[in-house]
Amino acid sequence: MKASAVSHSNIALIKYWGRQDDGGRGLNLPLNDNVSMTKEGISGGSRLQSHTTVEFSGSMEKDTMALEGREISGRELERVRLVIDPLRRMAGVESHFRIGSVNDFPTAAGLASSAAGFSALALASSSALGLDLTREELSTWARLGSGSAVRSLHGGFVYWHKGSSHETSFAEKVCEGDHFSLNAVIVIVNEGRKGVSSDIGHEYAHTSPFNAIRADLSRKEALLVRSAILDDDLRTVGSIAERNSKYMHAVMMTSDMPLFYWQGETLKVIRSVHAMRERGLEVYFTIDAGPNVHCLCRPEDAPEVQKEMEGGGHVLRTIIARPAKDPHTVDEHLF
Ligand code: PMV
Repeated sequence: MKASAVSHSNIALIKYWGRQDDGGRGLNLPLNDNVSMTKEGISGGSRLQSHTTVEFSGSMEKDTMALEGREISGRELERVRLVIDPLRRMAGVESHFRIGSVNDFPTAAGLASSAAGFSALALASSSALGLDLTREELSTWARLGSGSAVRSLHGGFVYWHKGSSHETSFAEKVCEGDHFSLNAVIVIVNEGRKGVSSDIGHEYAHTSPFNAIRADLSRKEALLVRSAILDDDLRTVGSIAERNSKYMHAVMMTSDMPLFYWQGETLKVIRSVHAMRERGLEVYFTIDAGPNVHCLCRPEDAPEVQKEMEGGGHVLRTIIARPAKDPHTVDEHLF
């Protein structure tokens, strides 16, 4: 009972920030439908993927997991059990698990490592347990570990229906990656772990006076972005994604525990994006829960955006990403 899977990270074009009140059940139901691109790195030596091996065996004495070679425990291991326990129950298996997981990009730096990781975990676990689940069903189980992992169960462009219960909050593919011509130039200004994880940050969203406004606008924008993706309309997708990211950071900055994920360098990158746009280059930014910036542009413009950013002096490195294929099981096991 052993299987491995590879899954890619994703970048939200319409953000998930803050959760529905589910009476403490930990369902990670978002306040609004949201949209993303599952992304594969094609430069900078990073494919932006998580490779995870899961094994169940009656001879194991306890559940264990090594993340990047480090044995995890406490809340981290609990989150893994939130995904695996229901799958174990469904399969009628009581054995303990051993998991190994590695990312080929910085963990917890706002590059959605948890999305890739929990997506790969759900896929590898269900395969090891011999369960035959659809990607939509699998996405609901991945969601229990990390909300945004829902969207990494599909490649290409993805829509997360917020739903109002465990079963109704799932991810659906909008289209394959080659339907909408988009790249993200990821500008890394800091590779360290972020101070406050998004897992904790979500809990404070409701304390911002802008929370309800953001959720309401995002609900409408998710629909607009979905149809603009299908129309291959970068201007609409990019300008809405940029605005939507600012709404999220406005909520973060004005929460009771103010969250400032931006750094000085982040603002310099934003200014460069604006300057490139004024020069006629169609490029937009979006930022997750960290200081790094995703610049959204056409694939043919990505090298120019990358060159401009790398010339900025304040940038550690860049990675060009394109839409990824679906996550899949692989024969190479980590142990
Ligand atoms: O899945 P989480 O709990 O790590 O939340 C991710 C939230 C953002 O990355 C900031 C936005 C998003 O929709 O991915």
